[in-house]
Amino acid sequence: MNHTSINCIVEKFLCNTAQVEAGTGLQVILQGYPPLAVFHLNNGEFHVTADTCTHGNASLADGELEGEEVECPFHAGSFNVKTGAACSAPCHIPLRIYPSVVENGQVFLLE
Ligand code: FES
Repeated sequence: MNHTSINCIVEKFLCNTAQVEAGTGLQVILQGYPPLAVFHLNNGEFHVTADTCTHGNASLADGELEGEEVECPFHAGSFNVKTGAACSAPCHIPLRIYPSVVENGQVFLLE
């Protein structure tokens, strides 16, 4: 990545890291985007994905996060929140993931 492209990146505030307990997710509404989910892994990483399950109208932020995988609260399908890959049925369409960064205790979406 060169300096020009770095200068073009826009950071959009999503939440404070303290708002998302380790091992959980938080739904964030950001204008111009579908509902987003910020996941705080137990290893300290934060990952941002679309919040709505690709199988139905469920909020994945309400799902069970185990390691890198979130289990949908509706029909127990799951996704890898780092890659967006669908990990178990009935989910088979990947979840959209969004680049993000943590700075000074805040999570930002990178655009
Ligand atoms: S709505 Fe998520 S698995 Fe069905």
